Amino acid sequence: MASSPSFSLIHLFFIAIVSAAVATDASSSSNSGKKTFIIQVQQESKPSIFQTHKHWYESSLASILTSTQTKSHDEDASRILHTYETVFHGFSAKLSPLEAHELQTLSHIIAVIPEQVRHVQTTRSPEFLGLRKADNAGLLKESDFGSDLVIGVIDTGIWPERQSFNDHDLGPVPPKWKGRCVGGKEFPEASCNRKLIGARYFYNGYEATNGKMNETSEYRSPRDSDGHGTHTASIAAGRYVFPASTLGYARGVAAGMAPKARLAVYKVCWNGGCFDSDILAAFDAAVADGVDVISLSVGGVVVPYYLDVIAIGAFGASEAGVFVSASAGNGGPGGLTVTNVAPWVTTVGAGTIDRDFPADVKLGNGRIIHGVSIYGGPGLAPGRLYPIVYAGTEGGGDGYSSSLCLEGSLDPKMAKGRIVVCDRGINSRAAKGDVVKKAGGIGMILANGVFDGEGLVADCHILPATSVGASGGEEIRRYISAASKSKSSPTATIIFKGTKLGIRPAPVVASFSARGPNPESPEILKPDVIAPGLNILAAWPDKVGPSGVPSDGRRTEFNILSGTSMACPHVSGLAALLKAAHPDWSPAAVKSALLTTAYTVDNRGKTMLDESTGNVSSVFDYGSGHVHPQKAMDPGLVYDISTYDYVNFLCNSNYTTQNIQVITRKGADCSGAKKAGHAGNLNYPSLSAVFQQYGKHKMSTHFIRTVTNVGDPNSVYKVTINPPKGMVVTVQPDKLSFSRVGQKLSFLTRVQTRAVKLSPGSSSIKSGSIVWSDGKHTVTSPLVVTMMQQPL
Ligand SMILES: *[C@@H]1O[C@H](CO)[C@@H](O)[C@H](O)[C@H]1NC(C)=O
Ligand SMILES: *[C@@H]1O[C@H](CO)[C@@H](O)[C@H](O)[C@H]1NC(C)=O
Ligand SMILES: *[C@@H]1O[C@H](CO)[C@@H](O)[C@H](O)[C@H]1NC(C)=O
Repeated sequence: MASSPSFSLIHLFFIAIVSAAVATDASSSSNSGKKTFIIQVQQESKPSIFQTHKHWYESSLASILTSTQTKSHDEDASRILHTYETVFHGFSAKLSPLEAHELQTLSHIIAVIPEQVRHVQTTRSPEFLGLRKADNAGLLKESDFGSDLVIGVIDTGIWPERQSFNDHDLGPVPPKWKGRCVGGKEFPEASCNRKLIGARYFYNGYEATNGKMNETSEYRSPRDSDGHGTHTASIAAGRYVFPASTLGYARGVAAGMAPKARLAVYKVCWNGGCFDSDILAAFDAAVADGVDVISLSVGGVVVPYYLDVIAIGAFGASEAGVFVSASAGNGGPGGLTVTNVAPWVTTVGAGTIDRDFPADVKLGNGRIIHGVSIYGGPGLAPGRLYPIVYAGTEGGGDGYSSSLCLEGSLDPKMAKGRIVVCDRGINSRAAKGDVVKKAGGIGMILANGVFDGEGLVADCHILPATSVGASGGEEIRRYISAASKSKSSPTATIIFKGTKLGIRPAPVVASFSARGPNPESPEILKPDVIAPGLNILAAWPDKVGPSGVPSDGRRTEFNILSGTSMACPHVSGLAALLKAAHPDWSPAAVKSALLTTAYTVDNRGKTMLDESTGNVSSVFDYGSGHVHPQKAMDPGLVYDISTYDYVNFLCNSNYTTQNIQVITRKGADCSGAKKAGHAGNLNYPSLSAVFQQYGKHKMSTHFIRTVTNVGDPNSVYKVTINPPKGMVVTVQPDKLSFSRVGQKLSFLTRVQTRAVKLSPGSSSIKSGSIVWSDGKHTVTSPLVVTMMQQPL
């Protein structure tokens, strides 16, 4: 058994050596170590002899190539992967480190940014662990509300034939729309309709790194061979479909948040990831096409904003009035895991809904352990107990002794006819079921490790299987071990209970949902909000079975997935509804409405819990809270932010003027900003202060905020302060009297605190809130204070 994994490892290594050798032969030696870079150019410097910017870029490339290596002009031209002209000015190309360096020295080149590879953020992806129909989808069902709005989804493409994308009863395409339906493999231009009004695909960046795509396993077109993009698009803007279910689970009406909004899809994710150069091309096209909202359920590692193509693209989009929501990432429950953290992006974490798919384990000793599953095939015989086996040793789950049920790792002699306990990690949850089934197992129990905690994700397993939490997994392993020691045979069964509604408590912060504090800008609280992201039903393509496992021959119109990827498009759809109701609102005003009306109390009337521990959750888990669609429609006041404010924020974050120019495409003057104070003064709808104690006794800071009246013309708002424990917080003035809509008034919040006892390198986090109310509207901003003790 042990020899087979090591054999395949050697085999892989061998292939890698061969292909590297081929690559070196086929190209000059200067080609080795080439990587994709995104190059920003001073657009207005284009000499008039060049007809287009592209000609100029080609010539810039040629000039550095002559100094490194002589190349034919044709070869240089083909090395430009994309040119950018809307949210960014420049191009992307594959360069050696030396060429990248040379290019950087040219006077009209502002920045040379190395490419990152990103990934979609479902928990299906093995890198991480594992919806409901939104209550409010019916909100504006009968009207044409939202039908002028276009949501751009940057993802894995779309399966256009799904009922969720039908255009029945939709009016003509909005006249402002400048986008196109770009056809390709198995995706004729006629695949678009009055619902799906645009489709494009970007793969030059992908192929520059990964080589030619495999056209058997993926489509060179907007057609989705993965499922993720079809799922997210239908969450944002799917039409009403009844009846909808996955293998009989979650039966009911399926609908997106904005069922009348139009969709435009920009396919950038392929087998092997989503490449920055393609993502930026998608932002560029989406903004030029005229989308109103961009939904991006894709993420990578956090880097400074001037090196982060998602932050750069999103800045250009927000400047053009386009709202950008992005998934927070699935790196939770640990701290500092949140991604897509730029202040002009709305960063969305995931919560549970009040629906569950219980599938409990019953052990031979009578104990019942809670599990979840959306297995839909023939079950185990009722009332019968089956032999159960664990291939790892007791205490496994995170260490060497765990049993991960990797391909080829299960002995059929051990698995045959038994329920096999597998530990979570490495391969996908459903893939483990495939391994068990192939080894002759009749069922699987998937146990969380200590790191996963108690967070459970339901999957469309291909055999009777369920997922249990870390403590349940531990109990099962102990039971098996004790039974073996006493020479009796351990037994168990799985009892599938279907779909349960009205679950309490809900929402709960999903275990995997990425958490703050914000690693790049601690003065900006992230994630911003949470939205439904656990076990969400939405459209699914025919190319893949619902488990995502290649051997899965089942085909379903809908599938149930989990991840911050599923939470993000809820907010994208909601943003489209808010823009439809308030066409003059900026993206920051839309965000403010979502944040200041979010709630932090669950359906028991208590503070939301954290699924990973069962403890009360905090602002770093949910940001401002869970989105509340109806309240967001009428927030009373908004915290608006202009491009100018973001520049001040970047200045106060100590970015150089050149770094700022990469983001804003304009020269920045930071002299005024420094007078305006600190990064925490950005007019954000939440407040976050960070104190370095450095042996101080007392510390204080202040925030200046400006609110715009979007409620009743004559209204008087009074403040309620809930100070973080042990702190003194004052707000001046404590009353804001408005006499017209659109009027802006400012206030000053001062926070004072004493140093607390902390060990070196540790920190203390306390939170409270500032609430403005006119008796009708409640405008809430969380106030977070982090005190840090210098490391020794
Ligand atoms: C392309 O994908 C198909 C289907 O997944 C697979 O059978 C085939 O081996 C792949 N071809 C290459 C060259 O990787
Ligand atoms: C969270 O729960 C764990 C175990 O249930 C407990 O040990 C810990 O003290 C709790 N933490 C907080 C902050 O309540
Ligand atoms: C920027 O630099 C100043 C002066 O060194 C420092 O006081 C401030 O904390 C820095 N701000 C940020 C956001 O890093």
